[in-house]
Order: sequence, then structure tokens, then C-alpha cells
Amino acid sequence: TQTFKVAVLPGDGIGPEVMAEAIKVLDAIEKKYDVSFDKTMANVGGAGIDNDGKALPEKTVETCRQSDAILFGSVGGPKWETLPPDEQPERGALLPLRKIFGLFCNLRPAIIFPALTGSSSLKEEVIEGGFNILVVRELTGGIYFSEPKGVETVDGVKRGFDTMMYTEPEIERITRVAFDVARKRGSKVCSIDKANVLSTSVVWREVVERVAKDYPDVELSHMYVDNAAMQLVRWPKQFDVMLCGNMFGDIISDEAAMLTGSLGMLPSASLAEGSFGMYEPSGGSAPDIAGQGIANPIAQILSASMMLRYSFSMGDAADAIDKAVETVLNQGYRTGDIYQGTSDEKKLNTCEMGDAIVAAL
Ligand code: NAD
Ligand code: IPM
Ligand code: MN
Repeated sequence: TQTFKVAVLPGDGIGPEVMAEAIKVLDAIEKKYDVSFDKTMANVGGAGIDNDGKALPEKTVETCRQSDAILFGSVGGPKWETLPPDEQPERGALLPLRKIFGLFCNLRPAIIFPALTGSSSLKEEVIEGGFNILVVRELTGGIYFSEPKGVETVDGVKRGFDTMMYTEPEIERITRVAFDVARKRGSKVCSIDKANVLSTSVVWREVVERVAKDYPDVELSHMYVDNAAMQLVRWPKQFDVMLCGNMFGDIISDEAAMLTGSLGMLPSASLAEGSFGMYEPSGGSAPDIAGQGIANPIAQILSASMMLRYSFSMGDAADAIDKAVETVLNQGYRTGDIYQGTSDEKKLNTCEMGDAIVAAL
């Protein structure tokens, strides 16, 4: 029996609620496959602040270091929004985790399940036949991390500033991931930038063009981010891999998620060089529905599936989870966010949805 060490960081809001369901699914995988998951829970975000005095306690980092992968819930919420920005869950824990572990590559697959065409915000004829978009988002550079950034007062006028910078090596390594993965799917890369305004984008485009020469079999296009946001809702099927810098990828991936029915459907893998990764839903702690047990656990469960696929090379088990999710959706099971109110649907809470997916496994 192979054993994998998993650091489990449920975090805040709906994080612990959806994490419980992902754990159920991992337990079911242990019974079905010759594998064992050695899970260690650790506090992060608001839970870290409340229990250990900071958003990213040292022992949480240590637990992650000793693990083969991190399964992450979500962090943040109104309770911690008045703390100094660097102490808050997002800037105090999530971003440092990405940086510490070198998680430069964020994969966010937006796939419409046939059963959910009615839950998408787009007209059925626009999404008929489905779409399968992979947002490849650079995750440890760009405007999120470049220095200097801060708040200062000059001549009595307060101002905030951020720096957006990308170096050639940073652009090249994420571009190679996008082209490598495109080869295994639709062989198209659309690089998203704002090269008509931003210097970072001018360099971005240059590097992408250069890397593309090594992939003559992959079709490359470039699109300005404002147009891309529009094209996504106009005709999502035109996209295969969307290659983005950190901030554009953040925005484009939420938009792509909604096209699949709900942000609660979109998983993500944040990968380092090698097999280590952190697996996190693309959405947040959803304070508006937290504590009610009604959140959609599918993004968290599909994130666990990505962990099996990318960090543990368990493609079969990952396929089985993805298939189980599709099965329950075909059976009409829905959490509130993807519920349309038709007679063939059954509305489930978070826990019931987890149980249904385990049963389908
Ligand atoms: P959000 O993603 O938490 O919520 C946006 C909307 O999507 C809400 O209406 C929410 O109910 C819905 N939603 C999200 N996930 C859902 C799910 N699984 N099931 C059903 N509905 C779901 O974004 P927000 O409201 O802008 O941010 C709330 C907090 O989460 C903030 O503190 C933000 O910084 C944080 N956040 C954290 C992460 C993360 O930890 N990875 C990601 C995004 C936002
Ligand atoms: C995400 C989130 C984070 C991001 C925030 C919470 C820092 O929105 O994972 O998409 O912007 O990367
Ligand atoms: Mn986001």
C-alpha cells in the first residue's frame, strides 16, 4: 500500500464544510484503491488567527513541508477584514503559501457538465455541445507580488501603489506549461494580455511568441483581456487553453466558472516544479452562505481529484471521482447554487451531496 501525506487546511467560512465532504471522498478512495492518505489537519487564515495568533502559523507551514500535497479550503471573511492587510487571511496566509512552496502554476478547468447546461448563465444554444476551457494562471508573480507596493501619504495626500512586473523566465515557465498541456487536449493556446497598454504584457507577448516556436503543432492566438472577458460570454467554445498572468487569470477564471453553473463547481491545482501542489477551489469562503451547510462541495471534491492526478499519479482514481460527480449530476442531484427548480432535480445540502458522490463511487 502506497501512503501519501496530505496537509489538510480547511480554513474559514464554507472551507471546513466542503472539506469534510472531500475527506469523505478520499476515505472512499482508500477503500477502493490500494492507497492510504496520511492526513494532518492544520489551521490557516482566520482559523489560524483565532487559534494560533496568526494567519499562517509556523506549525502549519511545517505540516505542509512534511506533506506530499496540500488540500486547501478557503480563507477570509468579514471578521478579519479590519486587521492590517498583511495580517489578513488572504495576504497573510494564502499568498505566502503560494510563494513559499513555489506554486507558480495554477490550473483552473472550467468544464460544463451536460446535466448543468440549464444552470449556466448563458443561453442553452451558446453552450450546446459543451465547452472545456483550462485557465492556466501564473500564480507567484505579477501585480500580486512585485515590489514596491504599499500605502503612503505624500504632501497630505494618501495613495496606494502596486507594481506589476514579469521577468522572461517567469513568463517562459508558465507558457511552457500551457503549451505542454494544450498538446494533450485541444492544441490551442490563447494568451491573454493587455499589450496595448502594459509593458509587462509587451514582454509577455514576446516570450509567448518565442516559446510557441517550439510547439508548431499548437495553435497560438493573443487576445486583449477586455475582449477575452467579452468573448468568454459570447462564445466560450472558441477557447481551449487560456494562458494568463496572475491578476487576469484570477478574473477570467471566476467568469469561466460561472459559465459552468456556479463558482462552487470550479476546482484548481496550484503546482510547483515537480509533483508538489496545493489544491484549492477557485472560489472563496462564501460568507453569505457559510454556516448553513448548503455550499456546493463539488469544487473541493474535484480539487481532491486533481491532487490524486497531479501529485500522486493516480489518474484512475481521479477519473473515478470525476465520473462520480457527473453521475450524481445526471441523477438530478443539486446543491442550491446549481438548482433550477425543475421536477427532475433533487435539492441536497452539502453533506448529502458528499454522500451521493461517495455512493456513486
Ligand atoms: P466567494 O468566492 O467567497 O463568493 C462569491 C459568490 O459565490 C458568493 O455568492 C458565494 O456564495 C458563491 N459561492 C462560492 N463558492 C460557493 C460554493 N462552494 N457553493 C455555493 N456558492 C458558492 O467570493 P467573495 O464573496 O468575493 O469573497 C469572500 C471571502 O473569500 C473574502 O474574504 C475573499 O478574500 C475570500 N476568498 C478566498 C479565496 C481562497 O481562499 N482561495 C478565494 C476567493 C475569495
Ligand atoms: C483566488 C482568490 C485569491 C486570489 C485571493 C483570495 C487572494 O481570489 O484564489 O482566486 O486572488 O488569488
Ligand atoms: Mn479569485
